Amino acid sequence: MRPSAVLLLLIVAASGSAAAHGRPAAVSLAARFWEQAMPGTLMPEAIADLVKKGNDHAPGTEHYPALPGISVCGAWTGMCTASLAAATGIFFHKAQLRVGSTMTLSFPAEPEPPILPHAVAENLPFANLTAVLSTFNIPPGSTEARHVAATLRLCRSPPHPGELKACAASLETTVRVAVDMLGAADHGAWWAATSEIPASGGLPRQLYGVQGVTELDGDRFVGCHKVPFPYRVYQCHMTAGVSDKVYVVSLRGLGGGGGPNAEMLAFCHLDTAKWSPAHPAFEVLRVRPGTPVCHFMPYANPVFGKKKATKP
Ligand SMILES: *[C@@H]1O[C@H](CO)[C@@H](O)[C@H](O)[C@H]1NC(C)=O
Repeated sequence: MRPSAVLLLLIVAASGSAAAHGRPAAVSLAARFWEQAMPGTLMPEAIADLVKKGNDHAPGTEHYPALPGISVCGAWTGMCTASLAAATGIFFHKAQLRVGSTMTLSFPAEPEPPILPHAVAENLPFANLTAVLSTFNIPPGSTEARHVAATLRLCRSPPHPGELKACAASLETTVRVAVDMLGAADHGAWWAATSEIPASGGLPRQLYGVQGVTELDGDRFVGCHKVPFPYRVYQCHMTAGVSDKVYVVSLRGLGGGGGPNAEMLAFCHLDTAKWSPAHPAFEVLRVRPGTPVCHFMPYANPVFGKKKATKP
């Protein structure tokens, strides 16, 4: 969590003084940081909402359970069970990625811990389990305590072969991590996006029809996944190589009520040969390592990408 960029140090210093004059400045600081770090890109709405929430609610005033949600299935966290994944439909076959196909999905709204202002996150315990548990009144030995410990183990664990990964506890750290992984050159080609899912209600369990599939431009992508913690921590990772593709999938609810509709980001990992055979995606999809695996990105799990260099 140590900021390295000069820009980040300036922002930290600035947000320290802004905090003394009231919190709302942190929202515009985060927005200004975004503009400077990712010029020309928009902060996704779901992320902006969580930044605002983190600014409006001091940590600890509201309890966010540190329990795994569907986001832990988006990366190889070791926390995703096949039964959790199967119940939501997060994994799918690449062949299902075509207009006219249907899938049963369930992405109910979950408690969404806020993204804390950088200066606040910097002053909260992160790596010290005992300190995290006592700061957030989580009884040692409880289910939540086990999940906080699992998140800390995940954040400390080395990346899988060919993967870059890091945990981030503020917007600034998340963006810095993503930009570092994408490569700082050619920053005009960056973009950021999230799935657009109704924030209240999510996607109720029903059949959804694929109405459109658009591949997003890029040969590198960083996916950030919410992990169990009393405030928002993302594990961001990038799989090096050109075997990942990202799509926007337009879905339409086919239940009786008409809708809801969603624009879901989806990753397809075309080369899974080196994945652990114990990855729940293989069990859910009944395929073996090596077969392409696709998955949706749950609510407010951002993806950062860099457009392919245009040939001269
Ligand atoms: C972790 O936090 C506890 C409680 O705040 C403290 O007593 C302990 O010294 C800390 N451990 C480390 C390694 O910093």
